[in-house]
Amino acid sequence: MKAIAEAPSKAIITGEHFVVHGAWALAAALPRRVRAEASPSEELTIVSDRFPGGDSRALAPVASVVRAVAKELSSTPRVRVLVTSDIPEGSGLGSSASTMVAVAAAVARLKGAELGPQGISDFAMAGEREVHGRPSGVDAAVCSRGGVLLFRPGIPPRAVALQGRRALVVAFTGTRRSTRRQITRVAGVKEAFPGMFRGLAEAASEASLAAAERLAEGDMKGLGRILSFNHAVLSAVGASSPSLDRLVDLALSLGAYGAKLTGAGGGGSVIAVAPRGKEKSIVSGLRERGFEAFRAEIPVVGVRSWLEK
Ligand code: PMV
Repeated sequence: MKAIAEAPSKAIITGEHFVVHGAWALAAALPRRVRAEASPSEELTIVSDRFPGGDSRALAPVASVVRAVAKELSSTPRVRVLVTSDIPEGSGLGSSASTMVAVAAAVARLKGAELGPQGISDFAMAGEREVHGRPSGVDAAVCSRGGVLLFRPGIPPRAVALQGRRALVVAFTGTRRSTRRQITRVAGVKEAFPGMFRGLAEAASEASLAAAERLAEGDMKGLGRILSFNHAVLSAVGASSPSLDRLVDLALSLGAYGAKLTGAGGGGSVIAVAPRGKEKSIVSGLRERGFEAFRAEIPVVGVRSWLEK
């Protein structure tokens, strides 16, 4: 008997970094997924296609999630977990949160428990804290619930209902970076300039609320303006990089309404919104210039789990 769980990746549409300091963020689950397979074993073993040799330091946070779920369910953590993923690691698309969510859901399912999205995201946070130091929880919340969420730490996330399906363009700079280091860098700006940072955090928070409205209505042009505004705010606190700025400019020159870095920045990925039907030509243009890019349709479902013989 084994339990399988699949969790989506994610893009933060607006509000990253500032969400760590209490602002609203808007995030969407994306179609690329992590799959976790859990089966009973003699000992706790984690195997991942990312770390074929079994990098124990990288896999330790995943083991913490397994132990936390097993403890909660008064069960043994002696399980074998196999993790496979098509999300580029260090790309700002939530590969770590998605992994923690899929693993928590698979282990709970193996033990016969249905934790629900809040429970799963709480357990995923045990691993996320080890990876990032001070995560806001937005990644785990959207990877477990799916759809589009307005998120602010300390209050229940709000689901944003879309009037129809929408598409985002996602492009990877090819440069991996550490979320933990980026969070520390931005927190340094807050410490040096608390008043200025407060103003920018408020602007990012307002941007998230406005972006949720525009996206729900399907006003992609308005949403695009907000994305570009938010990119400027993120640049002001040091979250961008020359390669991100170039990729944002490239998406705009290919006809996007707006574009910004997504996730922790410093490398990683960019999201863009475009006139309906134009997303494919932007993706082709980005690929021709050597970037990994794809069109992502939203909304997508959150984590799912099931048992197999
Ligand atoms: O690197 P990512 O995609 O996991 O982005 C993290 C988003 C931050 O706002 C920078 C951190 C957080 O926990 O919210």
